Amino acid sequence: MGTTVDQMLAEMRKAKEIGADVLEIRLDCLRKFNPHQDLEILIKRSPLPTLITYRPLREGGQYDGDENRRQDALRLAMHLGASYVDIELEIPTIGIAMGERGLISRILSPKFGAYLTYGALEASAISAPGQPLAKDLWDLYNFRLIRPDTKVYGVISKPVGHSKSPLLFNAAFKSAGLNAVYLHLLVDDVKKFFETYSAVDFVAGCSCGIPHKEVALKCMDEIDPIAKKIGAINNIMRRPDGTLTAFNTDYIGAISAIEDGLRELNGATPAVGSPLAGKLFVVLGAGGAGKALAYGAAQKGARIVVANRTLERAKELAGNVGGQAMTLDEVASFHPEDEMVLANATSVGMTPKIDQTPIPKRRKSCSGWSWRSTHKTFINAISHGKLRSRKF
Ligand SMILES: NC(=O)c1ccc[n+]([C@@H]2O[C@H](COP(=O)([O-])OP(=O)(O)OC[C@H]3O[C@@H](n4cnc5c(N)ncnc54)[C@H](OP(=O)(O)O)[C@@H]3O)[C@@H](O)[C@H]2O)c1
Repeated sequence: MGTTVDQMLAEMRKAKEIGADVLEIRLDCLRKFNPHQDLEILIKRSPLPTLITYRPLREGGQYDGDENRRQDALRLAMHLGASYVDIELEIPTIGIAMGERGLISRILSPKFGAYLTYGALEASAISAPGQPLAKDLWDLYNFRLIRPDTKVYGVISKPVGHSKSPLLFNAAFKSAGLNAVYLHLLVDDVKKFFETYSAVDFVAGCSCGIPHKEVALKCMDEIDPIAKKIGAINNIMRRPDGTLTAFNTDYIGAISAIEDGLRELNGATPAVGSPLAGKLFVVLGAGGAGKALAYGAAQKGARIVVANRTLERAKELAGNVGGQAMTLDEVASFHPEDEMVLANATSVGMTPKIDQTPIPKRRKSCSGWSWRSTHKTFINAISHGKLRSRKF
C-alpha cells in the first residue's frame, strides 16, 4: 500500500487495470495526512468505488493518534462520497484463515456468503500469510464464477503448492462451462480430511498426491480393481450418495509417456506394439508412484527391477510384479545390458530441489547410467549408449 496520495492513485489505476471491483484506501499508511484535501483527492479521483480504512494500532493498523480525529476522518470520508467505510466493529463477520491451509477460506468466500475477499496487487504487497494475488483469483481460480452451488475439487497432497493441477483443471472447467473450482488442498491426515469435508459438493472429487496415494486407499468405499491391484490411487470421485470411489490413472499417464519417448527414440510407429515389451525396466521408489509404474511396465511385458531406500518395500513391490529388488546403492552400478529404462518415482528431485537425484548423477565405475534430467519425476531411457530423458 502506498504511503503518499500520489502512490495510492497510481496503485488504484493498476488495480482497475487488472480487474478489481473495489479499492481499499488505507489512510493509516499515509506518511502525511491532511483529511480534507487528501480525502477529496483520493475519493473523487478513484477510478472505482472506495473502501476507506483508517486502522488504529490496536487493530493491527498504523494509526497512533486521537480516536476522535480518526472517527472524524471516517465521517468526512462518508460525507465526501466513499462507497464503504471500515468502522472496525470488533466482531468477526468474515472468517479468513491464515497460511497455505487457509487459502481455501479466501478463495471460497463467494461460496459461503462472504461479500469480499482480499487479493494482493503483487507478491511484494502480500500483507498476511496465505493471501492470494488478485490476478490469480480471476485468472487461476475463476473467482467471479464461484457461487454457493459451485462444486469444489482439488489435489490433496503434502507438499501441495508446487502442483500445477489447479491451472489445468480450472481452465478445463471454464472451457467446458462446469460450475466447479479446483484448489490446492494441503492435507496432513487423509482420514480426518474426508471425515471433515464430507459434503457432496465439497469435496466432489480430488486428485491424490504425495504422500497419500497408499493411505487414502483405506478411506474409500469402492476401489477400481486395477487401483486395488496396484495398491495406490491418484483419482477420487464422490458419488451423489456421498460415497467415495477411487482409481489409478498414474500408470497410464506415466507408461504412455515412456512409450512415446521410446518410440520417438527408435522411430517406431504405435502399431508395432509396446516398445517396453521385453525391456529391463528399473523403478526407483516403492511408494504410490513406484507401484503404479512397476504395475504399468509389467503389464506391457517389461522385466522389472525395483530399487528403493527401504529394501523391504522394494522386495514387497518386486514380489507383486514378478520382479527383482535391490537397494539404491546397488542400482547405481547395475548395468547388465544396454537399453534399460530407468524411472525415478522417489520424491527426490521434487520442486524446489529439482537438481537432486536418488542415485549419483555419474558413476565413473559404470558406463551405463548417467543423469541428465532436471525436473521432478522423470524418466531416463538409455538407448545405444546414449542417455535421453523425459518428464511426466
Ligand atoms: N507427475 C506426475 O503426474 C506424478 C504422479 C505421481 C507421482 N509423482 C511424483 O512421484 C514422486 C513420488 O510420489 P509418491 O506419491 O510415490 O510418494 P510416496 O508414496 O511418499 O513415496 C516416496 C518414495 O520416495 C522414496 N524416498 C523418499 N525420500 C527419499 C530419499 N531421501 N532418498 C531416497 N528415496 C527417498 C521413498 O522411499 P522409502 O520407501 O524408503 O521411504 C518412497 O519410495 C513425487 O515426486 C511425486 O510428485 C508425479
